[in-house]
Amino acid sequence: NYDLSARNTFAMNVKCGIFMEYTKADDIPFLLSSIRKDIGKMHIGAGSNILFTDDYPGVVLHSAIKGIQILGENMGNVIVRAGAGEIMEDLVKWACDRELWGIENLSGIPGEVGASAVQNVGAYGTEACDAIVAVHAYDEVEQEFVTFTKEECRYAYRDSIFKKPDARKRYIIHAVDYELSPDAGPNLSYPALQKKFEGCELSSLSPNDVRHAVIATRSSKLPDPATVPSAGSFFKNPVVSEECFNAIVAGESGPDVPHFRVDSGYKIPAAWLIDQCGWKGYSEGNVAVWHLQPLVIVNPERKASPCEVIALEKKIIDSVRDKFGIKLSPEVEHI
Ligand code: EPU
Repeated sequence: NYDLSARNTFAMNVKCGIFMEYTKADDIPFLLSSIRKDIGKMHIGAGSNILFTDDYPGVVLHSAIKGIQILGENMGNVIVRAGAGEIMEDLVKWACDRELWGIENLSGIPGEVGASAVQNVGAYGTEACDAIVAVHAYDEVEQEFVTFTKEECRYAYRDSIFKKPDARKRYIIHAVDYELSPDAGPNLSYPALQKKFEGCELSSLSPNDVRHAVIATRSSKLPDPATVPSAGSFFKNPVVSEECFNAIVAGESGPDVPHFRVDSGYKIPAAWLIDQCGWKGYSEGNVAVWHLQPLVIVNPERKASPCEVIALEKKIIDSVRDKFGIKLSPEVEHI
């Protein structure tokens, strides 16, 4: 019985049957073949976007494949390969320190490279897929190493082919290639970042300037992963129909509803919907809704059980559905 409490940032006190960690892609085929077929298995990264709902009786795999290397150039841009077990934040810092643009807006996101390519992490107007050019994996069905182009990864908001149930069981990512630019300049499309650099000469900014602004913005709203256990945004920002959006505008919350026009309708911040239902700062038992960003459920004393988290999750979903007729979906993966 292996204790997983330090392997998930939510600090759920759960166990798995066996924990296996490997440091080389070449070890993956042997490791997989050594696991009995009647035992369940799953792969985790840093555990920063998961909620273990119970003990996991099977095998939990984790990549400790490290390494960041420059592979070459493409029309003035730099192609960089990172091992799936690299800490995403170390990769972002590595790129910023070398004055390479492309992932600086992802500063401060917890997690590892492999999982970030599965989940297509995003923040402040940038998603991992904006810089990813290829994903390298082991295909357990065909028993061979394969490479996915960015198009083949079918990236969308917090989504990729690797999240589909079949693919999840089939592929183990061992490295990710990114294309970074020495001269792209900052992406300040996100209002909070734009405001920080108002009046600045954009051409004088470095990736590290943006990185520090992002980290400051994050820490003003989000709990520090090192001291307050959580899994980041607990819910996805929902996309609603024009009809639903108009009903909200006409309702008591009025025209102030923040929104972004997207192809399929209107994306509304889940944080706003939850805030309108009065959840900010709420606590019950060992769980709480973060007082600065109600999209985050926290486990401040590390004592919360999965049941407590799920009960609070359900109450939040119910209240948003009752008030707005919108069904929130969790962003955090339930295991
Ligand atoms: N808002 C409120 N009350 C609050 C906080 C926010 O009403 O207490 C409203 C405001 O209108 C605000 C809007 O919600 O403008 C959006 O809030 P914010 O800019 O903080 O971003 P978010 O949509 O809540 C998303 C990501 C975060 C990411 C930030 C910054 C999702 C589910 N979450 O949050 O990602 O850091 O944008 O880009 O897409 C994560 O995935 O774990 C995560 C933290």
